[in-house]
Amino acid sequence: MADAVTASSKEQLMSAIASEVAKIEQAMHVDLAVATKGTDPLLNEVLEYGMFNGGKRLRPLLVVLAARLSGFDKSKNEELYKLAIAFEYLHGATLFHDDVIDQADLRRGKPSVYKDFGEIAAILGGDFLHARSMFLIGSLGGTPALEVFCHATGSMVDGEFLQLRNAQNYNLSEQDYFLAVQGKTALLIGATCEIGAIVGGATSSQQQALAEYGIGLGTAFQIVDDLLDYQGDADRTGKTVGNDFQEGKMTLPLILALKSANSVDKERLLYLLANRDACKTGFSEAYDLIDKYDGFVRSRSRAESIMAKGVAGLDMFLSEEKENSASVSILHALAEYVLVRQK
Ligand code: IPE
Ligand code: IPE
Ligand code: MG
Ligand code: MG
Repeated sequence: MADAVTASSKEQLMSAIASEVAKIEQAMHVDLAVATKGTDPLLNEVLEYGMFNGGKRLRPLLVVLAARLSGFDKSKNEELYKLAIAFEYLHGATLFHDDVIDQADLRRGKPSVYKDFGEIAAILGGDFLHARSMFLIGSLGGTPALEVFCHATGSMVDGEFLQLRNAQNYNLSEQDYFLAVQGKTALLIGATCEIGAIVGGATSSQQQALAEYGIGLGTAFQIVDDLLDYQGDADRTGKTVGNDFQEGKMTLPLILALKSANSVDKERLLYLLANRDACKTGFSEAYDLIDKYDGFVRSRSRAESIMAKGVAGLDMFLSEEKENSASVSILHALAEYVLVRQK
């Protein structure tokens, strides 16, 4: 169905997304002004710097779309955006903290919060956002939403621990890679759709279909993120290229290449990975070796097939109200976008 989207309707979809993103950012400004009243000026500075700097706002957008698709009462739109921004806060908190964990210098094209303000401010700023996100989810979505949200947050911590355990495990299986991806990224993106479905009043099968779409989208999203860490353009991703390889992160292109490389190439890749200097100077050599074994192409096709499965469940919404078709089209367009994104 996504292929059937014409160029002009695609433009309409993109402008529909842009207008939602503007509303989401407006809701963040309004809410943070209230939430930070009387707090330390440094916190305000950190939040302004770290939260209003070009994020894609994918997670809150998904909450809004899933809720609409599930029949959310339009007269309560203001509440919906407030609920949605909770996910951007949690995402922001994880990025503040993730850049400390990964020692990443660059985020959204600027020094990361940790690099600019130091580790303490990055950790505390993240804690503040985390607390605010819980407050919003609890007060607007109630216990069922909080349960999904906290489960996803706990899984993210687990995923980051697993990734820590996986680093420098040069024998890592695909299964372990996917477990970490599910925990650190996919379940949270799945939770955006699931909570949107809950507050929209979805049936349980609709809720499940939306959660599965979100998990598929989140998994594909992280595979593409891992591809961009090798193949991206730093001017567009806003992040340093090659960071994962230098940190010894075992992501899918590398895992697939190591699995099929001949013994000479495998040994060379392992040497480049394990050696502190070689992993920096030998990045382009490692890139070529991964490419030689189709590590990038095969990773991308994994992302595509995972996404296709997630999207399939959306068909159930099409037989219902006509209004749904616009939201379903946007979800399809987002799925396409995630696979080809450059930032
Ligand atoms: C980055 O997420 C972290 C990952 C889970 C890969 P995004 O790529 O959504 O980051 P922003 O918010 O658009 O900067
Ligand atoms: C991020 O994974 C997952 C989080 C829990 C934030 P990455 O470490 O790959 O994300 P980037 O590349 O720093 O955005
Ligand atoms: Mg990172
Ligand atoms: Mg990354």
